[in-house]
Amino acid sequence: MKTINIINGPMNVSAIIQGCMRMPALTKEAAAKVIRTAYDCGVNFYDHATCYGENGAAETRFAEAFPFTGLKREDIYIQSKCGLCFDRNEFDWTKENILSSVDDSLRRLNIEYLDTLLLHRPDVLYDPEEVAEAFDELEKSGKVRHFGVSNLVPMQIDLLKKYVKQPLIINQVQLSLEQSQLIDQALYMNNKTTEFSINRDGNALDYCRLNDITIQAWSPLQVGMFGGTFIDNPEFPELNKTLTDLAERENVSKAAIAIAWILRHPAKMQAIIGTMNPDHIKDICAASDVKLSHHDWYALYLAAGKYLP
Ligand SMILES: NC(=O)c1ccc[n+]([C@@H]2O[C@H](COP(=O)([O-])OP(=O)(O)OC[C@H]3O[C@@H](n4cnc5c(N)ncnc54)[C@H](OP(=O)(O)O)[C@@H]3O)[C@@H](O)[C@H]2O)c1
Repeated sequence: MKTINIINGPMNVSAIIQGCMRMPALTKEAAAKVIRTAYDCGVNFYDHATCYGENGAAETRFAEAFPFTGLKREDIYIQSKCGLCFDRNEFDWTKENILSSVDDSLRRLNIEYLDTLLLHRPDVLYDPEEVAEAFDELEKSGKVRHFGVSNLVPMQIDLLKKYVKQPLIINQVQLSLEQSQLIDQALYMNNKTTEFSINRDGNALDYCRLNDITIQAWSPLQVGMFGGTFIDNPEFPELNKTLTDLAERENVSKAAIAIAWILRHPAKMQAIIGTMNPDHIKDICAASDVKLSHHDWYALYLAAGKYLP
């Protein structure tokens, strides 16, 4: 498994992260198999959030399963996110909510510290001084080692950076062959004939690279937000044809090629996979060894329905 050193953060983390959003549907035995299979494939980073499952069910299931994996806490990096409160229909970055969310995550996960804590989607009512106080307390108490954000545009990160002392080392954002807005706008810059040119994120990719913030790509196989995967989806014939050709050439699965497309980008991003099927995990992790050429990368991008201006 390819590893990266997150600048100002943990070293030797796997380029592929196992996302745990879909874990509440599993038994603890099946969850243990997912955690262990991913680890055996070289994954050492697991992504959670307080909102994955009712009352943090993904974190609870992970902790119930963990003793059956044969792993130790220090073998892996555990990340969680807070701020999305679906039960209350609001986003909440108050100090009180950040602190209580971390306590809840640690209790559910049955661990002493989070390797990384991300603020999930922006709470437009947040007070950056309160976030700074919360981060200071979490750092001082040792409950959180590193901090980051998810789904933030550069100006929002700048505002936060003005107040918090800790480096913001991660921005977790959506990126897939189908949802490639992070990349599109740079290619179609200033082009009024296509909506691919719309700058939807304030150049988040370049901003993160300039500011030593690692991008974590969520839902790397999804259509839209929760539209199912494009793998084997008859609505994406050209994409599946190109994925198949490259998969046959590289002797891996189509899903592995789709993940390799993200890892091929020079920004050294991590891809967060969501499958709960151990065979799919094994297939996908082969992406780490795939070397897509410059031409392959563009061929996949074009097959996903884009064109070059
Ligand atoms: N920060 C955010 O706002 C945010 C938002 C959403 C998600 N996330 C994170 O990103 C992670 C991944 O999200 P995701 O689950 O949407 O990711 P994904 O990996 O794009 O999608 C997973 C889905 O694709 C299916 N799949 C995977 N490989 C397949 C294959 N070879 N053939 C057919 N189907 C396949 C899986 O089904 P099987 O289980 O049957 O394989 C599963 O239903 C989450 O766990 C979470 O950690 C973050």
